[in-house]
Amino acid sequence: MSKTPEKLINEKGLRLDGRKPDELRPVKIEVGVLSNADGSAYIEQGKSKILAAVYGPKEVHPRHLALPDRAVLRCRYHMAPFSVEQRKSPAPSRREMELSKVIREALEPAVFLEYYPRTSIDIFIEVLQADGGTRCAGITVASLALADAGVPMRDLVAACAAGKIDGKIVLDLTDTEDKNGEADLPVAMMPTAELITLLQMDGMLTTEEFEEALNLAVQGCKQIYEAQKEALKAKYIEIKEAVQE
Ligand code: CDP
Repeated sequence: MSKTPEKLINEKGLRLDGRKPDELRPVKIEVGVLSNADGSAYIEQGKSKILAAVYGPKEVHPRHLALPDRAVLRCRYHMAPFSVEQRKSPAPSRREMELSKVIREALEPAVFLEYYPRTSIDIFIEVLQADGGTRCAGITVASLALADAGVPMRDLVAACAAGKIDGKIVLDLTDTEDKNGEADLPVAMMPTAELITLLQMDGMLTTEEFEEALNLAVQGCKQIYEAQKEALKAKYIEIKEAVQE
């Protein structure tokens, strides 16, 4: 087990991994990584590694769950047993059920569900390695998997957390910062309309700190959004080049 650090921010104002307070972890995204899913994407945000796959729109099973006027969006957030320091049971935990629900609710406003009545769109999020911020990275990568599946959307959904460690508001907390810090504020949004679709908070913040953290998280989401668009474009540039060869 990793030891509890005494300080999360050093005298130079840098965090344990050398980041400035308002700095994101390095983000690497790839779209279209699975050939058997309708859409897929993979993200590495620092040491967190997450895969998302989308199936659908397709016939709903069981059929009584079908809605006459729109598609049902279903989401499963799952952590691999080897994704955390202490082996996690593969059975769904209460935390995974909650995260599956909030992630679905964060993505739902972006999807034109009314285009596909009586169908389902299923999202699978597999956390392969967890080091904090997995619900946000899960939303980021799942919205790309939806886009890769060709599901019409109002915008991508980008997500990022801010929080408070050693009395300072910081962006994109690691697991150690989350566990030893004072607060964590995950945010998801559709950046073009600046519409927030997820806002949660763990810990304590004053009103001023909350506003500072929210503004920082929004800036983080906008940076993530740029990385999402680059990753989507990269896939289609690859396809175009392959067709031209
Ligand atoms: O991942 P996220 O910050 O969205 O969710 P959290 O519930 O705040 O969990 C923070 C971190 O705790 C996760 O990213 C994992 O690194 C860690 N965790 C763990 O070590 N074992 C678990 N069973 C669940 C979470």
